[in-house]
Amino acid sequence: MYGAFIMGYYLKILLFICAVQQIAGGTLKDTRDAVYNKYLSLRSLPFEDCGSLYQVSYLEIESCTTLPCSMARKATIKVTVRFDDNGNGVSFLKHEVRWVFNYIKTTAAITPDPCDGDHGCIESASDGKAYWANVYVNETLPVMKGSMLWESKDANDQNLICFQVPVVITV
Ligand SMILES: *[C@@H]1O[C@H](CO)[C@@H](O)[C@H](O)[C@H]1NC(C)=O
Repeated sequence: MYGAFIMGYYLKILLFICAVQQIAGGTLKDTRDAVYNKYLSLRSLPFEDCGSLYQVSYLEIESCTTLPCSMARKATIKVTVRFDDNGNGVSFLKHEVRWVFNYIKTTAAITPDPCDGDHGCIESASDGKAYWANVYVNETLPVMKGSMLWESKDANDQNLICFQVPVVITV
């Protein structure tokens, strides 16, 4: 009788500790997400926004840490973008990417394009959505400074994202 009482008492304490740990864990996770987002916004490459409907929070260009981004001819470079889709569940992006040299624009080859559900190229992030795509640095591009102008549109051709980054093409 007394033994069962003690057992129940300890069980309650145990459950209480578990509950506290769960709450603390949840708070910790929220804090961790906030810190992670802060870290992302700090670590984003600087870029010029050219009229994004959805705010771009983070830009990463593979192996580029300083501007202009050095891009070797014939390289395939992964670009990752995080943006806030205002909860609209964006699941399709048609990319239109151009190289700009002395006001002359040439189209860049992007894969996968369009980015839809088939390639795992768009996913939910804690602060909206994230997509990745590979840009091919055509060997016919001039070896000089310019910029990469990246636009992503929805199925109705509405511009959702637009950013521009200085680049330098290398051999
Ligand atoms: C590279 O550029 C040339 C000339 O503009 C074009 O004909 C070719 O299709 C491009 N290659 C790729 C993979 O986009």
